[in-house]
Amino acid sequence: MHRPIRRIALNTGGGDAPGLNAVIRAAVLSAIHRGWEVYGIRKGYGGLLGEDGIVRLDREAVRGITHLGGTILGTTNRGNPFEWPLDTPDGITVQDRSDEVIAAFHEHGFDALIAIGGDGSLHIANRLAAKGLPVVGVPKTIDNDLACTQVTFGFHTAVQTATDAIDKLHSTAQSHERVFVVEVMGRHTGWIALHSGVAGSADVILIPEIPYHIEKVCEKIEERYSDGKRFAIVVAAEGAVPHNGEAVYIEAARPGRAARLGGIAERLAAQIQERTGHETRSLVLGHLQRGGTPTSYDRLIALRFGAAAVRLVAEHRFGTMVALDPPNVRAVPLEDAVGELKRVPLDSDIIETARDLGISFGD
Ligand code: F6P
Repeated sequence: MHRPIRRIALNTGGGDAPGLNAVIRAAVLSAIHRGWEVYGIRKGYGGLLGEDGIVRLDREAVRGITHLGGTILGTTNRGNPFEWPLDTPDGITVQDRSDEVIAAFHEHGFDALIAIGGDGSLHIANRLAAKGLPVVGVPKTIDNDLACTQVTFGFHTAVQTATDAIDKLHSTAQSHERVFVVEVMGRHTGWIALHSGVAGSADVILIPEIPYHIEKVCEKIEERYSDGKRFAIVVAAEGAVPHNGEAVYIEAARPGRAARLGGIAERLAAQIQERTGHETRSLVLGHLQRGGTPTSYDRLIALRFGAAAVRLVAEHRFGTMVALDPPNVRAVPLEDAVGELKRVPLDSDIIETARDLGISFGD
């Protein structure tokens, strides 16, 4: 016999994404519907480690939040309890505080945790599940790089934001006969670059899955100028890599923190201008892609994920993650979801479509 569920906790971890609040609302209302109490752990696991608080989530707390960006619970991408950063006189070291998290979870009388996060946060959830914590995961990331789910919420909104930006750049590019290089998010995968680049009619799309040659990029640009189309738009994922080269980083990795990518657009713009002689400017979309109102598509996925996570808790199916497997949402083992990233398949029809439309991948 399973112990009955009475009190559950939710947390949000990693970078924010449009739709987080919709997941929270759906999970809270679905739990209340079953007569459970719901609490939010603030800032990832910080609320269980005395770094922040635990808040009661009732109907009032989640009223009118479906369309709001960000997360009412706060989040952090420096909150791995297995590698908690600790300031010491000798610099930053890391400490394993996972046992403290589990002890605090039980002290609060929680019966289950719904962990909403991306690859990093769900890795943590999976490790906590292996230590006996009753966890159900909800996949979130604008990068859309989590395995076992067709999409993560937040991706659709980010693609819309990037497409709008590319659309707007077209007029200046055309009027001033310039090349624009737009840097979009996507550390290891090119989902946002590919989808927004095709939808926004980019001329070149650079993604981590297809190493590029700068000569090929410039060839495509020259081809347009000699055809009389005297402007070009290049969309580059922040993690795009040149053939036999390295991605561009702003910051080196530090204990408890991943290295920060950024700067590819500026580098490419300088290279393109130098090689082609055409005026080339760069634009980094950055965190704009993580903000704003989730599209109705993302809201619906987020609401479905939140409600489905509560159904899995009710069935005591811990160590799982909700996943979109159209037309349904189903449960997959957390272990499988965090095993490997979902990269853009090189034989996908969208890559083929892009090539048929004359878009270059710089290969
Ligand atoms: O959410 C994923 C992501 O957007 C990556 O594409 C990006 O590199 C990273 O988060 C940036 O996160 P932050 O600037 O918050 O550290």
